Amino acid sequence: MADVLIIGAGGVGQVVTHKCAQVPEVFSRIVLASRTEEKCKRIAAQIDRPTGPIETAQVDAENVPQLVELIERVKPDLVINVALPYQDLPIMDACLETGVDYLDTANYEPKDEAKFSYSWQWDYHQRFADAGLMALLGSGFDPGVTNVFTAHALKHHFSSIEELDIIDCNAGDHGQPFATNFNPEINIREVTAKGRYFEDGQWVETEPLSVSREFDFPEGIGPRKIYLMYHEELESLARHIPGIKRARFWMTFSDNYLKHLEVLQNVGMTRIDPVRFQGVDIVPLQFLKALLPDPGSLGPLTKGKTCIGCVITGTRRAGSKADGRSSGKGGGGGNGEEPSRYYVYNICDHEAAYREVQSQAISYTTGVPAMIGAMMMLTGAWRGAGVFNMEQFDPDPFMAALNRHGLPWTETFF
Ligand SMILES: NC(=O)c1ccc[n+]([C@@H]2O[C@H](COP(=O)([O-])OP(=O)(O)OC[C@H]3O[C@@H](n4cnc5c(N)ncnc54)[C@H](OP(=O)(O)O)[C@@H]3O)[C@@H](O)[C@H]2O)c1
Repeated sequence: MADVLIIGAGGVGQVVTHKCAQVPEVFSRIVLASRTEEKCKRIAAQIDRPTGPIETAQVDAENVPQLVELIERVKPDLVINVALPYQDLPIMDACLETGVDYLDTANYEPKDEAKFSYSWQWDYHQRFADAGLMALLGSGFDPGVTNVFTAHALKHHFSSIEELDIIDCNAGDHGQPFATNFNPEINIREVTAKGRYFEDGQWVETEPLSVSREFDFPEGIGPRKIYLMYHEELESLARHIPGIKRARFWMTFSDNYLKHLEVLQNVGMTRIDPVRFQGVDIVPLQFLKALLPDPGSLGPLTKGKTCIGCVITGTRRAGSKADGRSSGKGGGGGNGEEPSRYYVYNICDHEAAYREVQSQAISYTTGVPAMIGAMMMLTGAWRGAGVFNMEQFDPDPFMAALNRHGLPWTETFF
């Protein structure tokens, strides 16, 4: 039985709050805090919970003294950070000051530079270790579940992993001319950045969205164009998966999304540096965010599915068996050490997610793993002193929890 403080009442915060409320045997008390307390109250009002209402609070998560005051008042066992990547470091500072464990879903990013890296948060490792505290980084879907999928493949199916392709497909349709499925500012910064992948011990850079191919997605989604991008889990997986030769990340985009993005870029609307306009400084991308649909409003409109997973090649362990959920040839078990290609994925339905927690599948696939990561920490299934990425722990309890809490997975050799 534990008390949690969730910071950030956006799309993901809403799902984490709902999912924690569904597991009262672990999360006995839930406090939701954000910059705009009204949004916390709106989420709290959606949840009827026999063990007591969701409490709410206002906080500026870039202000360490405010955070410390809030944490000292709430006295949580864990802080779940689902605000924006800009707030990771102040929240980690406040956790260190108050002696509380920390979890997030996205790595730190400075506001004035479209660059993300684990290095800033890995630098906290010794301070968390010395304080006997644990910080779990990237407990969303990608990063998060994709890291656990890779650890699962290494533990159960491969004696060595050579190539990893993480493939993220949103085959949903919200019917809007242009909208992003999560925070537009973070999303557009990510998509317009240069591509980057890991090969033979080096990082290779590509022009934004310049490398693409077709991938045939399972369960009725069919062939879609996927684009190579840089994504944060590549950095930690390249470090933690021994001997990996190549790691890449791919995402689907519709032609319509790319057409709008190109125009917005060409006219300067995706710039993150301030522009003087009628006597005030405005950041074009932040102004664009104010014009675009709130991702939360897409929930009731979005139909279709997401499919996120890992294609892995390497040397299959003798006798490796895919579990009962497996499909495809070779699912039953390898005969000996042999080169093999494997796919593990989850399919999530936007409308089913909305029926359950009033959010579409993008927020759902992030919020469920955030709750599961918190559960791993609070039940002691995953413990350690220091700063950790998801692939550093035993994947088994997390993989089992995915099946129980709304994100079942399928694995196949092909
Ligand atoms: N790993 C994954 O798979 C994955 C996938 C998607 C998203 N994410 C991450 O999940 C996080 C949440 O995304 P989202 O889509 O829920 O974003 P969102 O809808 O924009 O929500 C962000 C929330 O954080 C709050 N916030 C922003 N600045 C704050 C501050 N200084 N102090 C307190 N609260 C603040 C916002 O408050 P206001 O309401 O006042 O603006 C908002 O409620 C992001 O870090 C995103 O990168 C991870």
